Amino acid sequence: MNRFRILVMNGPNLGHLGQRQPEIYGSTGMDALPGMLKRLMGEQAEALELEYFHSNSEGALIDRLELARQDGTAGVVLNAGAYTHTSLALADCLAWINLPCVEVHISNVLARAEQLRHRSLIGRHVIGVVAGFGMASYALGVQALVTHLQDTQQ
Ligand code: DQA
Repeated sequence: MNRFRILVMNGPNLGHLGQRQPEIYGSTGMDALPGMLKRLMGEQAEALELEYFHSNSEGALIDRLELARQDGTAGVVLNAGAYTHTSLALADCLAWINLPCVEVHISNVLARAEQLRHRSLIGRHVIGVVAGFGMASYALGVQALVTHLQDTQQ
C-alpha cells in the first residue's frame, strides 16, 4: 500500500468537542481523534501519515489548504463546520487547489432542523461526503479517501 500523507482539517467550533452540545456532537474531545482513527482503522492507519489542523478562522483554513498543494499532501478530510454552509471563499479554494477532499460531519446535517445546514457550498468540490456517524465519520472519510487515492494513483 502506498504511504499517503493525509490532512485532517477541522473548522470553527470543533476545538471544544465534548463540551459543545454533546447531545448533537457527542462527549468525545477532538484530542481523542488521532487515537480513535488509529483504533478504528487498524493496520491501515500505520501506512498513513495523518496530520491534523484546526482553526476557527476561514482565512487560516484557506492558507493551510493552499500549503497542502505543495507539501506532499495527497488528500484532505475536511470538517469545515459552519463554513460548509456559508463559505464561498473555502469553496473557491477547493475548486482550484486540485487536491481530493472528503467532506465530513459528525452530525447528519441533512437531518438537522435548520434548512441552512442542508446546503453545502463546498460539496461541489469534494469527492464525497460522510455525515452522521459521530467521530467515526472521520475514520470513514479517511478510508474513502485512501480508496480513492489507491484507485486513481496506481
Ligand atoms: C458540523 C455540522 C455543521 O452544520 C456545524 O456548523 C458544525 C459541525 C458537524 O460536524 O456535524 O460546526 O460540521
